[in-house]
Amino acid sequence: MTTPFPKTPAFMTIDEPFRFEGELFDLEVEGEIPAELEGTFYRVGPDQAFPPKMGDANPFNGDGIVTAFRFKNGHVDMQHRYVMTHRLRAERKARRGLFGDYRNPFTDDPSVKGIERTVSNTNVVPHAGHLLAMKEDGRPYAMDPQTLETRQLWDWNGQMKATSFTAHPKIDPETGDFVGYAYAAKGEATKDVACYTFDKEGRLVWETWLESPHAAMIHDCGVTPNYLVLAVIPQLMDLERIRRGGILFQWHPEVDQVYIVIPRGGEGKDARFFRAPNAFPGHVINAFEDGDKVYLDLPVVNDNVFWFFPDASGRAPDPASLRTQIVRWCFDMSSKGDKPTAKIIAEVAAEFPHVDDRYVGRPYRYAFMQATDHTKPYNPEKAGPIMGFFFNTFVSIDMATGETKSYFVGDTSSTQEPVFAPRSPDAPEGEGYVMGVVNRRAEHRSDLLIFDAQRIDEGPIATVKIPVRLKYAIHGNWVPASVFPLPDDV
Ligand SMILES: [Fe+2]
Repeated sequence: MTTPFPKTPAFMTIDEPFRFEGELFDLEVEGEIPAELEGTFYRVGPDQAFPPKMGDANPFNGDGIVTAFRFKNGHVDMQHRYVMTHRLRAERKARRGLFGDYRNPFTDDPSVKGIERTVSNTNVVPHAGHLLAMKEDGRPYAMDPQTLETRQLWDWNGQMKATSFTAHPKIDPETGDFVGYAYAAKGEATKDVACYTFDKEGRLVWETWLESPHAAMIHDCGVTPNYLVLAVIPQLMDLERIRRGGILFQWHPEVDQVYIVIPRGGEGKDARFFRAPNAFPGHVINAFEDGDKVYLDLPVVNDNVFWFFPDASGRAPDPASLRTQIVRWCFDMSSKGDKPTAKIIAEVAAEFPHVDDRYVGRPYRYAFMQATDHTKPYNPEKAGPIMGFFFNTFVSIDMATGETKSYFVGDTSSTQEPVFAPRSPDAPEGEGYVMGVVNRRAEHRSDLLIFDAQRIDEGPIATVKIPVRLKYAIHGNWVPASVFPLPDDV
């Protein structure tokens, strides 16, 4: 590599490129890892392998790199490996950045025209014997869950016709069905949405297409036994804008939130469109139904969260000024109206939710998230400036009462998304463990904290010491050993 990385916020402090692939056998543990934890915590995030062709890049443009933390008998091993995308292969061959701006193929080097652009950096999900590395601008890549070797670009053996697929599919806990959708499903800035269900073996069992009211970002969904709910964010795409070298997404403060409710197994024409005032719908906590009523729980932020996708005037709010509410929308499928009703469950700046996966799509009680607690101190002299997303607290929310329990990770640290692992396959809902990576920013290394899920406020029961810096990952999942057996040597 003959060009240095830029010294811009996206490439500084804990976001400096790391680029290292490798394994750490039997990590040092303080405290005690419960012996019943047997499985793998997979996470993925961006780590740009080559300096950006355009001189800078937004945080979502980095090449996906996957971490596997494998747990057995109170021990944990770690593996860290890139998703070997067609894009990364092309750039490695050239030993330089060839792809241009975020989701803007018009800025690419001509030599890579037609090569799949996705960096697969957003989520890692188990399905049909594969670990799928996913990003919503392209199709997933299938990886070997035991070796993290990249197997192939995954279109379900030709059954999935869309040009993209969400990074937030949901797995029905009763059937194992894998439910998801694609937006911009016929190419960037198209209004086309494709909805899919694949069975646990990867066979197509449902496909329907519809048009979104806007060519807009649809980042996450809720799934119940009978419905798929899509949250349309007022971040609109414009092909002409990217053709001129602009950004794909632009915040539109005059545009409503739109929630599309589609009967699973139904047709696109059966979709209902519900509208709520302009705001930023975040990650879906969970969804469930009760008769004709469909409920969707998620954090809703009062303004644009993505400072790198500002409005037409170039304005983006200071992230510290944003206000988050944990909202339970009710969509009444027996009514003719297009307005959902809202119940505010909590007011906490929490995001990146997980629930007990055995309750996805069903009535449930507990959410596990990370949050920004602005009342807590931060020490920039020791830990460096805050740039971009910043969370300093792990929280659990009792969705029945709104009660939160939280654990602040310290004034030189920041958190990453926590996941939940049940204590046993038949443990009551929410009985188990919450685990999440913490960046020790002053020390340029990380820890993995493990909590009793019902007692997050009491602090970690185990701290797994990681002697290297794990960059900010986006999402991950706990996968029990019953789904993906651990490698033989663990
Ligand atoms: Fe996400």
